[in-house]
Amino acid sequence: MRKSLVGYLPELQKACVRLKILISAGPTRELMDPVRYISNRSSGKMGYALAEAAMTQGHQVKLISGPVHLLPPKGVKMELVETAQEMRCAILKDSKNMDLMIMTAAVADYQPLKMSRHKIKKGVQQWTLKLKKTPDILAELGRIKTSEQLLIGFAAETERLLRNAKEKLIFKNLDFIVANRVGVGVGFDSDYNQVWILSRNGKIFKFARMTKRKLAQRLIAFWTPYAASRKV
Ligand code: CTP
Repeated sequence: MRKSLVGYLPELQKACVRLKILISAGPTRELMDPVRYISNRSSGKMGYALAEAAMTQGHQVKLISGPVHLLPPKGVKMELVETAQEMRCAILKDSKNMDLMIMTAAVADYQPLKMSRHKIKKGVQQWTLKLKKTPDILAELGRIKTSEQLLIGFAAETERLLRNAKEKLIFKNLDFIVANRVGVGVGFDSDYNQVWILSRNGKIFKFARMTKRKLAQRLIAFWTPYAASRKV
């Protein structure tokens, strides 16, 4: 009896609500010259798992991804980008129609002040690379989102996890932020994750360590009622 009911659950969910969900994933690459870039260790696994989970729960999904070594989840609309500037353009173009926006991408915070048109040649012993800030895409979404849209950020922290995540939640005007610890041997490229969700009204939800795929299913199910209640 229990088994047969569980079997119907995804169908019931699909019948109930179909959200438009925008997900960003992976790192960005900020080019110094045609062959070199600054980037980070993000694998994109959490974002791709969320896109897959959202699809299987019956939602319409658009995934905007930086360069990763992952296959696109079946049935998900994809757009591949390289730099923070490209990711910003792709996200802003799609954000207007979305019910739920989940920004897992590890957007590089700085880009080279200038990109050299030719390969930079080695010469002097030391030199300094000048950097400038990239656009903060999530903060921009926080400024322009409507009251019908739910906006989620991810905070990757090596220290003061919940405090830093809370600051980002407030500063970027998010509805929820997912906090997870990263560091040498923790977080990056792992198939597992352990996270906390912080809400705007000060609630903290702790999730046990589990596979990113399982966690993704839980997170989508967690946000669906919030996003559905805002949908007009
Ligand atoms: N983010 C973004 N644009 C940036 C930097 C970050 O949209 N230029 C988003 C990420 O996608 C993530 C959230 O902001 O959802 C937090 O990213 P994180 O790297 O943890 O924090 P930062 O805001 O970059 O701050 P810091 O690096 O100082 O911790």
